[in-house]
Amino acid sequence: MRIAFCSSEVYPFAKTGGLADVSGSLPLSLAALGHQVKIFMPWYKGIEPEKHFDDFATREYQGIEVIFIKNEHFFKRDYLYTTDKGDYPDNLERFSFFSRQILKVLKELNFSPDIIHNNDWQTSLVSMYLKIFYNDDDFFQDTKTILTIHNLVFQGIFNKKDFEHLGISWDYFNMHYLEFYGKINLLKGGIIFSDAITTVSPTYARQIQTNEFGCGLEGVLTEKKDRLKGILNGINYKIWNPKEDDFIYKKYAKSLKAKLKNKFNLQKEMKLAQDKDILLFGMVSRLTEQKGLDILTESIEEMLKKSQLIILGTGDLKYHKKLRKIQKNNKERFSLHIGFDEALAHKIYAASDVFLLPSRFEPCGLSQLISFKYGAIPLVNLTGGLVDTVSDLSKSGSGFTLKKYNRNSLIKLFKRAQRLFKDKKKWNSIVKANMKKDFSWKKAAKQYLNLYQDLSNE
Ligand code: ADP
Ligand code: GLC
Repeated sequence: MRIAFCSSEVYPFAKTGGLADVSGSLPLSLAALGHQVKIFMPWYKGIEPEKHFDDFATREYQGIEVIFIKNEHFFKRDYLYTTDKGDYPDNLERFSFFSRQILKVLKELNFSPDIIHNNDWQTSLVSMYLKIFYNDDDFFQDTKTILTIHNLVFQGIFNKKDFEHLGISWDYFNMHYLEFYGKINLLKGGIIFSDAITTVSPTYARQIQTNEFGCGLEGVLTEKKDRLKGILNGINYKIWNPKEDDFIYKKYAKSLKAKLKNKFNLQKEMKLAQDKDILLFGMVSRLTEQKGLDILTESIEEMLKKSQLIILGTGDLKYHKKLRKIQKNNKERFSLHIGFDEALAHKIYAASDVFLLPSRFEPCGLSQLISFKYGAIPLVNLTGGLVDTVSDLSKSGSGFTLKKYNRNSLIKLFKRAQRLFKDKKKWNSIVKANMKKDFSWKKAAKQYLNLYQDLSNE
């Protein structure tokens, strides 16, 4: 099949979170199964393409052609979507331009796709432009569209006054199309115009049809439930594998002694006591309410009485401040890094005994899958994709799971981890079993292909 994979961030070219991991790996697995795949993303600052054309530039990545849509004014900026002062005010213009341009460039490349696979609000309008502007165009006659929702909280909501920038008739500004409580909702448009919708875990696919998790779109999603499917993400073991990881201090496959060297070295680098018997918690995350920062910041001091903690992340200023304050009072036990740092992220996965992911909600979550591979036991709240990937150790599972989403429950769980850590034999056998788990993309890629095939046969 011919597949155009469209995303606003793709690892290793641009990344703010898991969407980039997915966009930089799922297409490779689809190609490995014998399909023709091209990736489309904006040409951001810092990216260096190999070939240049009028509207776009290209580069090979692991055998796949990546197409960077050109527009200096829109994309050569310091950030992808948001600065310290808030979202770029012209995000609707930027990403509707990107979406529309993808279709134009597909024609310029003479690449007539069987499937256009879009991701999140930034590319959700590709399917709308296809149906509005190219309905009678033979070139796209057999093209079907799918939209993957990675996080329903981000919908691309804009003021009505921006509507003119979309270049479509005002007829589409009503509740059956893009209008959402008087505003424009790009994700809603994507849901309505796409031939199929997926999200990144089976549990989240069910949750988003409820009031609690639907973020106002539960009605629209429930209406389309026959076309909505949850497909669990995988991870790329060429990038996330302690055996081949150039970022970490000491590579390891099975030897937990070698893993320990990573702990010692990171403790040293972070100016924490070099002690193998103190439990080291690690976290690499967007610092937002989604990721459990509210209950976490209330519980850290209790945790630090008997453990060390390293956090790498960036997000809400409110949490930067709170964490900085806690860190100031607990320098010997808590190392804090506000920012985005790929190398340090790898070192933290490799050094940690427990990885923290107490999310309030989590569409899939990749960090728990990465921590399995690196031998850090995940500590999670069972929601969304975490339900589909982690089960409690008391049920011969793979992680520490919260009973309730609150501070007390979290503190109890820290204590449980601290107790179990004393039983090294048991701990190591859990770690070893986790490291053998297989969450590669193979299975998910096949599920996507089945879906593509079903759509093509319609
Ligand atoms: P989300 O996409 O909701 O942020 P995921 O668990 O799906 O969560 O993916 C997060 C990805 O981003 C992981 O690869 C994680 O290691 C990475 N990541 C998050 N924050 C940082 C950071 N500050 N520095 C480096 N990598 C980060
Ligand atoms: C989103 C979600 C996360 C998911 C990632 C990749 O950012 O928050 O749970 O793993 O997308 O699909």
